Amino acid sequence: MAYVIAEPCVDVMDKACVEECPVDCIYEGPRKMYIHPDECIDCRACEPVCPMDAIYYVEDLPAQWAPYAHANADFFAGLGSPGGASSIGKREMDAAFIAAQPKRAVTAPPKNEPPPVLVSLGRMARKWLK
Ligand code: F3S
Ligand code: F3S
Repeated sequence: MAYVIAEPCVDVMDKACVEECPVDCIYEGPRKMYIHPDECIDCRACEPVCPMDAIYYVEDLPAQWAPYAHANADFFAGLGSPGGASSIGKREMDAAFIAAQPKRAVTAPPKNEPPPVLVSLGRMARKWLK
């Protein structure tokens, strides 16, 4: 297993990661995206572009999100290696662990805008420079 998508993706699914993956190994479920553990080439292209910081190398996955590695394996059980997410499109079922979660009302930060913390730092810097 390589990279794993954790809880912050659930009900957000920004999909910036999909555009970056050179091997099309990020598959879509109804409420979350999943990285195919055998097709991922560990290039890390997806990790920095996720606005929700949802993507982790499996060994760096925060402990509270360890079940997401199991949910990932669950999602791909019986699917084998289709050789590309676009070849099968969106799947009808999430992993059971994801499907059982209550719906979340979360949105990704707007694209092409810096995260709020950088906006605040910019304001502080401008004040200091006056
Ligand atoms: Fe999800 Fe982040 Fe990709 S929110 S769809 S892991 S860009
Ligand atoms: Fe794809 Fe590389 Fe991420 S192969 S899933 S972009 S680590």
